[in-house]
Amino acid sequence: MKIYSAENYEDLSRKAANIVSAQIIMKPDCTLGLATGSTPEGLYAQLVEWYKKGDLDFSGVRSINLDEYKGLAGSHPQSYRYFMDSHLFDHVNIKKENTHLPNGMETDTHKECLRYNALLAESGGIDLQLLGLGRNGHIGFNEPGEAFEKETHCVALTESTLQANARYFESPQTMPRHAYTLGIKAIMQAHCILMVVSGPAKAEALCKSLYGPITPQVPASILQLHNHLIVVADRAALSII
Ligand code: GLP
Repeated sequence: MKIYSAENYEDLSRKAANIVSAQIIMKPDCTLGLATGSTPEGLYAQLVEWYKKGDLDFSGVRSINLDEYKGLAGSHPQSYRYFMDSHLFDHVNIKKENTHLPNGMETDTHKECLRYNALLAESGGIDLQLLGLGRNGHIGFNEPGEAFEKETHCVALTESTLQANARYFESPQTMPRHAYTLGIKAIMQAHCILMVVSGPAKAEALCKSLYGPITPQVPASILQLHNHLIVVADRAALSII
């Protein structure tokens, strides 16, 4: 495990964007496992800036996102498809058909999970998996539970996650209570994992994830077993490590 300490959020975003850029430069037809949430926003803005300067080429890049709310269409401003389009895909030369997210409008859970698992299998694996960290230690929407869920699955969001993400919705009642997420197996099979963590609210989760017992109660703790884990965190997130 390699931990890079950043001075602040801007520094974190730049450092993490450098790592993603290096991946694209070294393997122009790479598969990126991408993530949403407020933490990677600065990283995406930095990638767009470098693309506009002519320093990056996304034309061969494929992306497979971690998760999506169940019940939201891609046109919904709070859907993760909308997030990815507006923060990254619409601003770079990635081919739209090479960008993948779970389909939040598919009501047949089993069918959608099978489709996403097949997509992953056929992609040949994720070269670089980007992750944020939930306040309860979740990654993607792999919430604390009894076991490490392996494959793509549909989860009932925990109260902690609902509260943390309610700020994005006009009223908490309109927030979806379920989401599709990649499982731990696909995350752990990525060649390299880059986790970005910012702010004091994540300090405890980060400490437990990196140095606590490996347990499904703290889903990110499984990352201790990955042999190419890179963490970029700001001082506030690293404050109790
Ligand atoms: C959501 C996403 C996660 C993300 C987490 C943290 O729950 N499903 O992938 O890591 O939020 O988000 P933030 O970076 O906004 O704290």
